[in-house]
Amino acid sequence: MPIKILGIESSCDETSAAVISDNKILSNVIANQEVHKNYGGVVPELASRAHQKNIIPVVNSALSTANIEKNQLDAIAYTRGPGLLGSLLVGASFAKSLSLSLGIPLIEVNHMQAHLLCHFIEDNGKEKTKFPFIGVNISGGHTQIVLCHDYFKMDLIGETLDDSIGEAFDKCGKLIGLDYPAGPEIDNKSQYGDSNKFKLSIPKVKKLNFSFSGLKTSFKRCVENGLEEDQNFINTESNNLCASLQSTIIKILSEKILNAVKLTGVNNIVFGGGVSANSGIRKYFDQQEENLNVFFPKIQYTTDNAAMIAMVGYLKFKEKKFSKLELGSKARYKI
Ligand code: KG4
Ligand code: ZN
Repeated sequence: MPIKILGIESSCDETSAAVISDNKILSNVIANQEVHKNYGGVVPELASRAHQKNIIPVVNSALSTANIEKNQLDAIAYTRGPGLLGSLLVGASFAKSLSLSLGIPLIEVNHMQAHLLCHFIEDNGKEKTKFPFIGVNISGGHTQIVLCHDYFKMDLIGETLDDSIGEAFDKCGKLIGLDYPAGPEIDNKSQYGDSNKFKLSIPKVKKLNFSFSGLKTSFKRCVENGLEEDQNFINTESNNLCASLQSTIIKILSEKILNAVKLTGVNNIVFGGGVSANSGIRKYFDQQEENLNVFFPKIQYTTDNAAMIAMVGYLKFKEKKFSKLELGSKARYKI
């Protein structure tokens, strides 16, 4: 009989539940929280309350879509961290109660590992990467380069020293009046813009680390200068601004990834996280000429989702890596 696991994700502003049968996803329900739109970013207290409201309907919907009764489940996997503590606690408490009441194992999952390991979800026999690979986690909360030796043997070899790559998209988007999260709209507008129109600064950061706060300042200055000349600058130039920003971000990312390949001698690259949905990044790396084997997750597994949590649950179940009920949630949790 295939192993059936319920995954629960509640680390930030998506409440999600998924059911996996061995490595095949049967359902992946995601409730986005609209409440944050008016604030230009995630408000932690509002996120926790929305998770409390969403979690039961989302889990019920995941079970019914998968056509599974609770008592057919073999384990419950949940996000232990990293993330917003209040949000994590909602998912953790729910997962623990359910595992206790059903008498089945509980499995804690590191959200950042899950963003990379979602790649192992079965997808019509599509080729998977082999270990070792370089994991590139690009999301709203993180920007990481991770040398992955095995499923649970990962070394962080580069990370951002300030803003994440997703924040670069979201904060710059806010400066030109786009709603949070601005990444998808910048992606879309970039297709109609000239990426050479505005020159933005590329930070000089040592080793495999990143910095995006200087880029944000450079973008801000570019917008302010433009507005001084023309009140309508943002309206007339928004596509060009987006295209210039996106291509600068791609330059920063590709330089670090190529350095990581040189340093490690590993040329399998696996992307994960919300920003890996970006069509410009996908196009750039799919067309690269560096002899890299590049793997992107399916779009539905890029932004936060419980399918990736259920997948890690399945991998851990096979190794009997179960968790105790008293395990605490972790706002900061190393990969
Ligand atoms: O992985 P994720 O859902 O949440 C975190 O764990 O942080 O990532 C959310 C981030 C946001 O910053 C959002 O703007 C960005 O992913 N994002 C994108 C795109 N889709 C989502 N950024 C650029 N292009 C996209 N298409
Ligand atoms: Zn995430």
